[in-house]
Amino acid sequence: MKAIVYDHPGDESVLKLGEAPDPKPGPDQLLIKVITAGINRADLMQREGRYPPPPGASDILGLECAGEVAEVGANVKGWHPGDRAMCLIPGGGYAGLAAVHFGSAIQIPKTLSDEEAGGIPEVYLTAFLNLFLIGELTKGGVALVHGGGSGVGTAAIQMLKEFGARSIVTAGSDEKCDQCLKFGADVAINYNSGPFMPKVKEATGGRGVDVVLDIVGIPYLEQNLDSLVRGGRLILVSLMKGARGEVDLSKVQRNHLRIIGSTLRSRPVEEKAAIVSNFLRQFGAALEAGRIRPPIYRTVPLAEAAQAHRMMQRSEHFGKIILRVA
Ligand SMILES: NC(=O)c1ccc[n+]([C@@H]2O[C@H](COP(=O)([O-])OP(=O)(O)OC[C@H]3O[C@@H](n4cnc5c(N)ncnc54)[C@H](OP(=O)(O)O)[C@@H]3O)[C@@H](O)[C@H]2O)c1
Repeated sequence: MKAIVYDHPGDESVLKLGEAPDPKPGPDQLLIKVITAGINRADLMQREGRYPPPPGASDILGLECAGEVAEVGANVKGWHPGDRAMCLIPGGGYAGLAAVHFGSAIQIPKTLSDEEAGGIPEVYLTAFLNLFLIGELTKGGVALVHGGGSGVGTAAIQMLKEFGARSIVTAGSDEKCDQCLKFGADVAINYNSGPFMPKVKEATGGRGVDVVLDIVGIPYLEQNLDSLVRGGRLILVSLMKGARGEVDLSKVQRNHLRIIGSTLRSRPVEEKAAIVSNFLRQFGAALEAGRIRPPIYRTVPLAEAAQAHRMMQRSEHFGKIILRVA
């Protein structure tokens, strides 16, 4: 099959269109003929050699894809060749074929294009898991989401609105803040215009937020803790700007705060299947109705994966960058 391959870790120029062996689906898997694949920030880290795939996963890049079922494993029920599927995968999306555990596959509603479907699983399931299952957000609650214009951030904005919670997001320019507000965020703060914490407090009448979904790490730690209500949850899904530093634990103790780290990719397939079912229970109707759909910034042919990585590196996008594989 065709696939994006690279001989050694490095910058975008290492990515080449080449050939890789076809995956052999197991009895609990579907073989997907990939039509589109979402680009995620983690792909850039993997390409640089900083985020190796978990044991047993494909070493081809790509954490989500959409396509058509080509083969159905002997133990799999409810799927048939020709069905449209969007899939959460621990690797292998930048390729013509992908093997996917049945619990990580979702039927694509008619309302969604292949491009939109290819940009859903990784970011919507990440936002869902961390805001609702781990973050335990309730209706009427408030979440602070860093990187509101990111794939994960835009998914969060949509689900919070659909659910009936408020979203306060950060972004790096006034233009991206405007895009976040137009997309449904309640408040958008330009993180380059001063500390965000006082603005979070102002926007919540001094109360603070119930959950912070953080991707920045140490430089935001103190402000994140100060932005939380008593009993609030800080959830770290990435540490883009630093992992080591000092923390004033007295704030954590005094305010009954919780600091929780989380990754999606390394979880066992059973946990991922449970996350998928929970997501569909809570947001399946919105997905069917087309109220949940990612904003697509650009769709790029598979052969131009390097170009797509450069776009993401520059952070010029709002929402998702998608590879068209077939
Ligand atoms: N733990 C998990 O399971 C998991 C799963 C998926 C994703 N993630 C993480 O979630 C993050 C988003 O992923 P993605 O694929 O959606 O990436 P993405 O679209 O490339 O987004 C990265 C975002 O980071 C923002 N950013 C950079 N510096 C910032 C700062 N100082 N303050 C606030 N925002 C800042 C950028 O916003 P501006 O352009 O506005 O600067 C950009 O929107 C990544 O860090 C990724 O590793 C974690």
